[in-house]
Amino acid sequence: MEKCIPEIVFATNNPHKLEEARAILSGKVKVLSLADINCHDEIPETADTLEGNALIKAHWVKDRYGFDCFADDTGLMVEALHGAPGVYSARFAGEHCSPDDNIALLLDKLKEEINREARFVTVVALIFEGKEYLFEGEVKGRIANEHCGKSGFGYDPVFIPENSSLSFAEMAPEDKNAISHRGRAMTQFADFLDNR
Ligand code: IMP
Repeated sequence: MEKCIPEIVFATNNPHKLEEARAILSGKVKVLSLADINCHDEIPETADTLEGNALIKAHWVKDRYGFDCFADDTGLMVEALHGAPGVYSARFAGEHCSPDDNIALLLDKLKEEINREARFVTVVALIFEGKEYLFEGEVKGRIANEHCGKSGFGYDPVFIPENSSLSFAEMAPEDKNAISHRGRAMTQFADFLDNR
């Protein structure tokens, strides 16, 4: 008998992430966007952990719209900055700052710094069939001295994953997704769906 494919909302407005999730979860679940369920809310991210923020976003959709849902939260942890910007990565340079503002501040803070070690961590929170699940992915790397490349988003132009000479913004999306923090967390999610 053909397996019925469940619908799950991805609580994001980021088209890059939606595309990535649809590719990884293809054939396992149908990924709906917030626009698909007519949700245009400004979902708060008020927790001080990645898990906390991912859970707030997933519960927001489940509680108000009734859909099973997953949400992610990502932080860039820079060793020389004692783990900053971490959970505050999106607002590093201020509440309404652009990705370029964040990158400029990061490069400025590291300008005299020899230790460029950093890692991206993503937590995916899933609310599915009445239960809550968490998946985590990490990629280690280093912060470049200047912008390199134009693809991707966020801190991609200054993040060089380990064993690579290219920044995330210089890689093809499928190469980035194969090793990225979010790609790894999403792969665990896909494995969970395969094995349930
Ligand atoms: P969010 O939790 O996905 O909103 O991400 C928090 C911050 O990390 C934002 O500034 C994002 O632009 C940045 N970020 C998240 N994922 C990536 C990525 O894959 N590459 C570069 N920056 C990212």
